[in-house]
Amino acid sequence: MANQPPPGFRHLPGYLNLEAQKALLDEIRTIVAAAPLYQPAMPRTGKPLSVRMTNCGSLGWVTDREHGYRYQPRHPLTNEPWPPIPQRLLNLWNTLADYPHEPEACLINFYSADAKMGLHQDKDEADLDAPVLSVSLGDTCLFRIGGTTREAGTGSFKLASGDVVVLGGTSRLAFHGVDRIYPGTSTLLKNGGRVNLTLRRVMKG
Ligand code: SIN
Ligand code: FE2
Repeated sequence: MANQPPPGFRHLPGYLNLEAQKALLDEIRTIVAAAPLYQPAMPRTGKPLSVRMTNCGSLGWVTDREHGYRYQPRHPLTNEPWPPIPQRLLNLWNTLADYPHEPEACLINFYSADAKMGLHQDKDEADLDAPVLSVSLGDTCLFRIGGTTREAGTGSFKLASGDVVVLGGTSRLAFHGVDRIYPGTSTLLKNGGRVNLTLRRVMKG
């Protein structure tokens, strides 16, 4: 990519093999059956996001028109506590995050063929020392990352199924987003699309 991401950024292509991807996806299916994907809305405007979301963990990231971006312990539609984070994701965190506290939140994003996510910073967490760890499953996407200001240049590269990304150090507050999905690039999800799992430490450790 033209601009290198800030220090602390790591892209681990194919970190999860096919077997691990399938096992993880099975666990995500169980979670989604209990905590259904829903379409969140932007703060103030109420404009729907193209990505559908749910969470697992003691806290989940949500957004709606009235109350904006935040973490909460319950699903906004079912009002049930989020299901727990699968142990294999906690193991991944313990291996890669180099951080003494576990994540409370795992955001589950589902991208259909035409979904995308605008450039943003992850900064709704009280603990910004912990990295953000993300796992891609299913169709390949074009991921964009820049610096810690909107004015900084950005670069883009593809994230494929099984890739893991770590936003640590300076890159923790890097602007990032998903420009597009490449439909038909993976057979992991029966009906196509992309799942992204984002593990975050929310409260100060
Ligand atoms: C996000 O920033 O929440 C998602 C990033 C991704 O889908 O890879
Ligand atoms: Fe993000």
